[in-house]
Amino acid sequence: MKLKTTKVLVNKEIAKNTFLLRFKYKQNFLPTQFVLIDTYPKRFILKPFSIAGYDDGVVSIIYRVISDGTKLLSTLKPQDTLTFLGPFGNTKKFKDLLKNIKDKKVVFIAGGSGIASIIYLYNYLKKYTNTLQIFYGEKDKNYVINLKKFGIKNVVYTTDNGSFGEKSTVVDIFKTKNLDFDFLFCCGPKPMIKSLQTLLQGKNNIKTYVLMEEYICCGIGVCRSCVVKIKSDNDFVYQTVCSDGPLFNLTEVIL
Ligand SMILES: Cc1cc2nc3c(=O)[nH]c(=O)nc-3n(C[C@H](O)[C@H](O)[C@H](O)COP(=O)(O)OP(=O)(O)OC[C@H]3O[C@@H](n4cnc5c(N)ncnc54)[C@H](O)[C@@H]3O)c2cc1C
Ligand code: FES
Repeated sequence: MKLKTTKVLVNKEIAKNTFLLRFKYKQNFLPTQFVLIDTYPKRFILKPFSIAGYDDGVVSIIYRVISDGTKLLSTLKPQDTLTFLGPFGNTKKFKDLLKNIKDKKVVFIAGGSGIASIIYLYNYLKKYTNTLQIFYGEKDKNYVINLKKFGIKNVVYTTDNGSFGEKSTVVDIFKTKNLDFDFLFCCGPKPMIKSLQTLLQGKNNIKTYVLMEEYICCGIGVCRSCVVKIKSDNDFVYQTVCSDGPLFNLTEVIL
């Protein structure tokens, strides 16, 4: 895979410590895929970020500043050079599920920066169904991204301290709504994913998927730094987030 070079179009703060990065690149980027961006210019230390949008040759990434790499990324200005590898991720599962999603009721649950991949999924699935609903949780209002700016209307916002939207965790609020739905996608911190697994246990008529995040190094399934445990009969197998995922069946992931 070749290193790709482009120019930054936009890199601006859209919520506390949360940036929208846009750059031009003509290639087909699908939801659930991610890129590895060289966050330390010219030192080749690559960090993974989900595709949050792809429209007319413009790629959108939404990232939260965590430590050195994302801090440096946040200093890039329009017209600065950006180097990346990708897209990565196995899109077979996603393409397969598209065959059955027409006119179905779809729910998305996102916690924190997990909203990035969910934004592209939601917008992409508009072509397939009108019944889409997002539940999006953050710690407090300062971190909340205004999803209207990304073309998303049906959102239930939650914050842990109630400073914006409904007060509680996103899964607790989702639980109270007793929604009827056919597909669920989630991305966020592991405790959120685990409580969704518990909540949805036994609901075999619903197709549930999770976008997993683990430490990515090679991105091509070789180094095994990003493995997750996946149920297999009465045992488990290791699969890689980078080349088997990041999309997995929620019921199959062992957390
Ligand atoms: C497939 C994938 C897609 C991602 N998409 C996004 C996205 O769209 N937006 C976004 O904001 N973030 C995303 N992330 C997470 C993002 O890659 C990390 O936050 C980023 O690499 C941190 O870089 P850093 O140099 O600032 O911090 P680092 O120095 O790399 O890490 C700082 C701290 O965060 C922890 N950490 C770093 N990466 C991870 C991880 N993957 N899982 C758990 N803990 C971690 C480290 O242990 C350390 O304590 C994604 C991760 C993966 C695997
Ligand atoms: S990052 Fe090397 S196997 Fe996934």
